[in-house]
Amino acid sequence: MGALDGRVAFITGGARGQGRAHALALAAEGANIALADAPRPMNLTYPLATEEDLRATAKDVEELGVLCLPIATDVRDADAVNAAIEETVRGLGGLDILVANAGVVSTGVLDEVTDEAWSQLMDTNLTGVFHILRAALPVMRQQRFGRIVVTSSMGGRMGIPELGAYNATKWGVIGLAKSVALEVAKDGITVNVICPTTVHTPMVQPVDSDGVPDELVQRMMRANPIPQPWIEPEDVSRALLYLVTDPGVVTGSVLEIGLGSSARLH
Ligand SMILES: NC(=O)c1ccc[n+]([C@@H]2O[C@H](COP(=O)([O-])OP(=O)(O)OC[C@H]3O[C@@H](n4cnc5c(N)ncnc54)[C@H](O)[C@@H]3O)[C@@H](O)[C@H]2O)c1
Repeated sequence: MGALDGRVAFITGGARGQGRAHALALAAEGANIALADAPRPMNLTYPLATEEDLRATAKDVEELGVLCLPIATDVRDADAVNAAIEETVRGLGGLDILVANAGVVSTGVLDEVTDEAWSQLMDTNLTGVFHILRAALPVMRQQRFGRIVVTSSMGGRMGIPELGAYNATKWGVIGLAKSVALEVAKDGITVNVICPTTVHTPMVQPVDSDGVPDELVQRMMRANPIPQPWIEPEDVSRALLYLVTDPGVVTGSVLEIGLGSSARLH
């Protein structure tokens, strides 16, 4: 018996990194999973997940004995997001858990951020979360049950030089999630936020073949009171699991998985 037997979870950015770890963690507790990923190309310094990655993760999830629906979806596209939620409800019979995890990063001092970089960040990290929440809420309201977790970042808890545009999106989703939490609190739906510090995923690019991270990541690591370079995706999945198995008493909260990085701030 798993804690999530019979539940249906929808995870954006589920093909790799934290989204993949979340899919495996929820599947290990018995949830059937829909994975949305493989977006249209973007102009970034690192590649995004492909449909092949999406199918490979779906296969790994199914090996845990649950159903998995891989759906090629770009969260920037509202129609595609609506269709993905409909396909999930049709294919898996409902929608109990939503993990709004898809995101991209780009760095740079603000006066060098291009319009294109700004739009990519806003359209994916902020508008993409709006699209998925708007599509999922009517289904959850009808069921009178829902557990929604939005992935922000420790960048949504503080200022960090060269991450102003990214951090604006990550502060933004916290305001969005807290406001929606109030709107749906009487409907059996909780909405919470997780804020990981630097996570060991393809988003955090090593500078050289020895895996030495770039200067910005190294600077963030040095600021961590717990002296380890980064956390693993599974560290974040444990926080997710806590929030989605909560009986319905925790909502509008922000859970930091931060290596102590905000301990000096508040
Ligand atoms: N890696 C870190 O250090 C770190 C720290 C804090 C927060 N985060 C956040 O965690 C989340 C997961 O990132 P990750 O670390 O697993 O990195 P990742 O790059 O491995 O995973 C992000 C996934 O989102 C997908 N994605 C990106 N844009 C998309 C779009 N428009 N539509 C659909 N899918 C899209 C990518 O293809 C990828 O599979 C992101 O929101 C990120 O901002 C990351």
